[in-house]
Amino acid sequence: MIGVFDSGFGGLTILQNLKKVMPSYDFLYLGDNARAPYGSRSFETIYRYTLQAVRELFGRGCPLVILACNTASARALRSIQQDVLPYEFPDKRVLGIIRPTTEEIGRYSKTGHIGIFATSGTVSSNSYGIEIRNFFPDLKVTQHACPMWVPLVEYGECGTEGAAFFVKKDVDALLAEDPLIDTVLLACTHYPLLETEIRTALPPQVRLVFQGDIVANKTLDYLRRHPEMDERLSKGGKTTYLTSDTAKFFEKGAFLFGIEGISAESVVL
Ligand code: DGL
Repeated sequence: MIGVFDSGFGGLTILQNLKKVMPSYDFLYLGDNARAPYGSRSFETIYRYTLQAVRELFGRGCPLVILACNTASARALRSIQQDVLPYEFPDKRVLGIIRPTTEEIGRYSKTGHIGIFATSGTVSSNSYGIEIRNFFPDLKVTQHACPMWVPLVEYGECGTEGAAFFVKKDVDALLAEDPLIDTVLLACTHYPLLETEIRTALPPQVRLVFQGDIVANKTLDYLRRHPEMDERLSKGGKTTYLTSDTAKFFEKGAFLFGIEGISAESVVL
């Protein structure tokens, strides 16, 4: 199985893209719902929580884990890859969703100016800024944290006037900082659910980029380049769901993210 980890429900937006692009693979999704959101937590806490989740997924037979959470990818991925895997799990891999996104994002912009919406944790880590510089050194990147957006999604406020108000406020702030932005990346798993509000607030010429599709295609590409890993992954088209909260909480909440009729298992991390 491919392990897919997120702080809560948001990674389901990435999982849906993975399942679309890789329908024959088996996935084991783990949401740390009991401790979500991660967005404004400290580096140390995000690292500790993420490592616990990765250990759980490894222990359940996933040789490959995708951190389908921008905050966890920004705060925990490098340390896990460098300080843990080589010593404890040399035959296992953990991938994030920032690197694959940054490999592509520069191709979308004509003005060479892009904007990024993300959680405070992701923005303050500057992981996007650092990674993008490796692939598109001339790209002008403006990042803006939107701490209201995750709660708006989680409390079922998408489509309301309140959501439109807060989204417009952040969109206006980003564009005021750099009016030449022609491409905006949604670098948080929850934000695609606010697509209508974001599109309404953005000028029509600004392109909106979702990372789920990019991540799914890059994962498939990774497995083509690493057949030794691909061979170890089961392929029955099945998805299993784990949560650190109660199964009932997860089954009900997943509905907001377009996943219905599932049964989840509760785990202690
Ligand atoms: N999954 C997180 C991300 O993509 C958003 C939710 C959270 O803050 O935990 O950054």
